[in-house]
Amino acid sequence: MADSAPVTLIIGATSGTGLITAQKLLQRNESVRILGRNRLKAVQIFGTSNAEIVVCDITKPSDVLKRAFDGVQRVIYTAAVPPRRANEEEIRQVDYEGLLNVLAAAKSAGFSGRFVYLTTLGLTHKSLLMSVLGMIKPGIVQWRTAAIEALRESGLKYSIIRAGLFTTSSPGKKTTVLLNEDIPMKLSTAISRKDVADVLIAESKRNDTSNTDVVAVWQKAAS
Ligand SMILES: NC(=O)c1ccc[n+]([C@@H]2O[C@H](COP(=O)([O-])OP(=O)(O)OC[C@H]3O[C@@H](n4cnc5c(N)ncnc54)[C@H](OP(=O)(O)O)[C@@H]3O)[C@@H](O)[C@H]2O)c1
Repeated sequence: MADSAPVTLIIGATSGTGLITAQKLLQRNESVRILGRNRLKAVQIFGTSNAEIVVCDITKPSDVLKRAFDGVQRVIYTAAVPPRRANEEEIRQVDYEGLLNVLAAAKSAGFSGRFVYLTTLGLTHKSLLMSVLGMIKPGIVQWRTAAIEALRESGLKYSIIRAGLFTTSSPGKKTTVLLNEDIPMKLSTAISRKDVADVLIAESKRNDTSNTDVVAVWQKAAS
């Protein structure tokens, strides 16, 4: 890796959107450091790539977590409880405390780049789908909202990306739009993880200092 190349730290890179994001950056020969909690899984996925691998669990503050920020210019954060049923304590620990630990590590390491944070749209609206999500993941709205508040108050430069429901259909064939206001979660508020990955990468590369809070959906959902 060239010393001067900006390093992107991807937290949550061993699955889903974070994995796609890391693969996209690696394909472009960009400098990537991935943070995963499972060494075997991280090595299986990234062992033959140019990615640096940091193994740590974000629910536990550690020196490893702090050192993960050494020389990092951009952070893309996609870590979360897996997309299955979870109890409220898991959600609090991973989705809230995990972000708090990462923000504390970033600040104590002197990180001054942009922190791009992925979450779901519809947190600020009541909807049938959000109620269903709340049954599978109790406390999700409360802890995700608190996480967003912690990021806003962190003093870091941030981009909050609230994505529509992930679908596997037609990535890139539909236009992605960014909305400035949150919208209720509906089945039509869809987007592919690959298109979200493009939004995360574009946000991470912005050089201005303004913070962002946007919804990312395919065009149809926005109209
Ligand atoms: N599902 C949807 O329709 C939808 C829609 C919009 C937004 N979102 C949001 O988008 C985000 C990404 O979702 P996704 O489905 O792409 O991701 P995902 O596949 O659930 O991946 C989450 C990542 O977080 C990691 N992780 C979990 N706990 C961790 C811990 N304690 N320490 C370190 N890493 C940890 C996981 O590691 P392992 O690989 O070891 O498990 C995994 O790499 C989430 O916030 C999700 O709520 C989801």
